[in-house]
Amino acid sequence: MKSIDWSNLGFGYVKTDYNVRINYRNGEWGELEVCSDEYINIHMAATCLHYGQEAFEGMKAFKGKDGKIRIFRIKDNAERLQTSCEGICMAKLPIEKYEEAVIKAVKLNERFVPPYESGASLYIRPILFGTGAQIGVHPGKEFMFVVMVTPVGPYFKEGFKPNPYAILRQYDRVAPLGTGRYKVGGNYAAGMLAGEHAKSLGYAAVLFLDSKEKKYLDECGPANFFGIRGTSYITPQSDSILPSITNKSLMTLAKEIGLTVEQRPVLEEELSTFDEAGACGTAAVISPVERVDDLDMNKSYVISKDGKAGPYSTKLYNKLRAIQYGDESDKYGWIT
Ligand code: COI
Repeated sequence: MKSIDWSNLGFGYVKTDYNVRINYRNGEWGELEVCSDEYINIHMAATCLHYGQEAFEGMKAFKGKDGKIRIFRIKDNAERLQTSCEGICMAKLPIEKYEEAVIKAVKLNERFVPPYESGASLYIRPILFGTGAQIGVHPGKEFMFVVMVTPVGPYFKEGFKPNPYAILRQYDRVAPLGTGRYKVGGNYAAGMLAGEHAKSLGYAAVLFLDSKEKKYLDECGPANFFGIRGTSYITPQSDSILPSITNKSLMTLAKEIGLTVEQRPVLEEELSTFDEAGACGTAAVISPVERVDDLDMNKSYVISKDGKAGPYSTKLYNKLRAIQYGDESDKYGWIT
C-alpha cells in the first residue's frame, strides 16, 4: 500500500481492500458477500439509475490510544437507513444484517483505520439502491446493499475553524413535505447547485431556509445547524431536516454540560442573537460558523467576532471526539 499521510487526509476517496455486499432478490435479503472490486455491475434499467431509488448512511470508526477500533452509533444509523428505505419504497435491511456488514467491512479494512494521533478516522459509507430492471415508475423489486470504507480527514478543509455560510434564497433544498428527512442521494443532488454557487462566492456551504415561507432555518445540506445563545443549545426542527445522529449526540452532551436544549422552528432573525453556531454531522463533526450572509436581503449575521470557535462548541467538540476515540467513557452505549 502506498503510504498514507494520515494527518493530511482530506474528505476524499482512498481505495481500501474490501467492500461487503448483500443482495435482495425474490423478496429476501441474501448472504453477505465480501468483494475486492470497486465497481458494481448493474442493469442499465436499474431503478437507482432512472428514478433515484438510493439511500445511504455516513458513519465513522476511530482508533483509540489503546489500539482498539470503535464504531460510533451503528444501531442509530441502521435504523435511520430503514426509515430512508421506507421513504422511497425500498426493501428495509434488518438491523442485524446492517451491523454485521459494517463490522465486517471495518475489520477487513483494519489497516486503513487512521492512527490515534492523526485525528483522522475511517469513514463508513453504506449505500442501498434499486437494482431491478424496470422502466415504469414504481418501486423496484431488487436491491443491493454495499458498505464501502475510506480513511478521511476533516470535511471542511479548515477543520475546527469558523467558516462563512450563505443564505441563497433562489434555491430550495427539498420540498416542505418531501424527502428532506430521509438520507437519500436525490436530496444531495438537489442541493449541489446551491452549494457550488455558495462555494464560488467564497462560502463553505449554504444555510438553507425552509422552502415554504423562507423564514426559518433548515439545514446546511451536508450537515445540520445549531446555535448557542447564553446557555441554550438551539437547533431547528422541521419535517424536512435530516435527523442527524451527530446533532442528536450533541444535544445529549449539551445537556450533560449544563445547557438547555431547544429543538424547534428557528427564525432566521435569531442568527443575530447567537453567541456561537455550528454545522454538525458525521463528516463535518462540528464546523463552527463565522457568519451567515443573507445575500438577497443584504444582511450579514456575524457570529464569531474573533474568528475562533466559541467555548461551548469547543467543549462539545472535544467531548464528542473523546467518546469516539475512547478517551472518555462510553456512558451512553454509543460505541461498538
Ligand atoms: C455525513 O456527514 O456522513 C454525510 O453523509 C454528509 C455528507 C458528507 C454528504
